[in-house]
Amino acid sequence: MFKFFYRFCFRKRNFRSKVALLIVGIVIVFYILIITLNEIENNLEEEPISISEFQSINQAQELSKDDKYPIVIWWTPFTGDSGSFKKCGHNKCFFTDQKKYFSDPRTRAFLFYGSDFKPTDLPLPRSPLHDWALLHEESPKNNFLFSMEKVMKLFNHTATFRRESDLPLTLQYLESLEKIPSTKYFVPTSAKNDKGKTIAPVVYLHSDCNTPSERDSYVEELMKIMPVDSYGKCLQNKPLPSHLVDPARNMLSHEVFELLSQYKFHLAFENAVCDDYITEKLWRPLTVGSVPVYFGSPSVEDWLPNPESAILIKNFRNPKHLAEHLMSLHSNTEAYERHLEHKTKGKITNQRLKDAMAQRDWGINNDPNQKNFIECFECLVCRRVAENFRRDQKNIERLKFRSRFEHYGCPKPVGNNTLKTDGVGWWPELYDKAVYEAHAMENLMAKGRNYSSTDFYQEVIDLLENGAG
Ligand SMILES: *[C@@H]1O[C@H](CO)[C@@H](O)[C@H](O)[C@H]1NC(C)=O
Ligand SMILES: *[C@@H]1O[C@H](CO)[C@@H](O)[C@H](O)[C@H]1NC(C)=O
Ligand SMILES: *[C@@H]1O[C@H](CO)[C@@H](O)[C@H](O)[C@H]1NC(C)=O
Repeated sequence: MFKFFYRFCFRKRNFRSKVALLIVGIVIVFYILIITLNEIENNLEEEPISISEFQSINQAQELSKDDKYPIVIWWTPFTGDSGSFKKCGHNKCFFTDQKKYFSDPRTRAFLFYGSDFKPTDLPLPRSPLHDWALLHEESPKNNFLFSMEKVMKLFNHTATFRRESDLPLTLQYLESLEKIPSTKYFVPTSAKNDKGKTIAPVVYLHSDCNTPSERDSYVEELMKIMPVDSYGKCLQNKPLPSHLVDPARNMLSHEVFELLSQYKFHLAFENAVCDDYITEKLWRPLTVGSVPVYFGSPSVEDWLPNPESAILIKNFRNPKHLAEHLMSLHSNTEAYERHLEHKTKGKITNQRLKDAMAQRDWGINNDPNQKNFIECFECLVCRRVAENFRRDQKNIERLKFRSRFEHYGCPKPVGNNTLKTDGVGWWPELYDKAVYEAHAMENLMAKGRNYSSTDFYQEVIDLLENGAG
């Protein structure tokens, strides 16, 4: 190969043809360079996003006309920041909650906080340059619109509890992996057995009693069959010890953890059922060393420290079967302790859980040493829109970012998850309302202009009358 090139280039030729050859060579090298650079840009999404790169630069109440950076608007005000530059790696964006920037040609993205997202207050008409970004880590019960495919398809960037989202917040309630084997609160079974003369084997501690998961109806039934101590507002049958009654005290306090740790089992029921919607309901008993009896995310096994570390309601036909199982574990220490090996043997076998915790570069509980997921999401959005902003200026094709149903998409609350057989009620109705609202949004947005709330409700009524949800 080399010989061939050598001969080709140094054969006797006149000067002019050598110059021509040189030019051809330069052009080829130049093209290779452009192709490589383009490839690097196309691979943007492959690089992990490092939040440590994210910095607030300065508070700039107003943006100057000459600033050539993309504008990102918090359409549902959330961070209390009326305007500032933030940097993410080599990308820089102007973040603001001022809606007046809506028509600025540099505006590239709108951020929405899910619980505040309203179909009657949207940045419309939507330009093809306007990305929409959804942050929602809270319960799906707060807004059923995101359970609608029509709505999820409107977004380009997401941070939700679902692992499929762009910035998954599934483990947002797990402070650190070390909490799981920690024996800080751990009470040995023998001590639990001694205590057992004065307390029930199972504890329940909830204050939100009307939930889409209808957890109370299950617990109510369970209580008829076996002893359950309930300290919260819901189904309360035992007062909180007087030193814990003070409502100013956080329910995550040291004392509450100590109280819970004495129980063999902990009813860990989420307020809503959706894949990957997992809260402190699961992690709290795992932290204190009480066995969670879990109801919530149907795929919770994917995140458990080991398969035995929780007992899942879904594996029992009804509360009676569950009660029988819990009572048999209660009287069989060896079988019971198999559910505590994450404490007694540090058994964390779930690689997905370990990897996710190792890769997570945001902290929780206002950890001063780490960025939080809000900043991390702002960084992700800034990076993506800044890239497309440069592409627009260079007339290069933009990168595409699309959210899907799976970035949120929760099932309809069935209203009889457990025992009730009506299948109707407040929560299923709210979900049905969202079906019509999503349809109305789609119809009105298709007209390519802004609409008023009167227009919106009229559209919903028309759809209801036509039965076209
Ligand atoms: C953002 O999503 C909208 C709606 O699906 C889509 O029209 C637009 O092209 C997307 N933008 C990017 C940058 O992919
Ligand atoms: C409610 O429960 C009944 C009986 O278990 C079942 O047949 C029905 O499909 C359930 N309804 C819903 C909406 O899931
Ligand atoms: C859309 O219309 C509503 C009410 O008519 C108005 O309050 C809102 O500011 C408008 N939004 C935009 C982005 O122009």
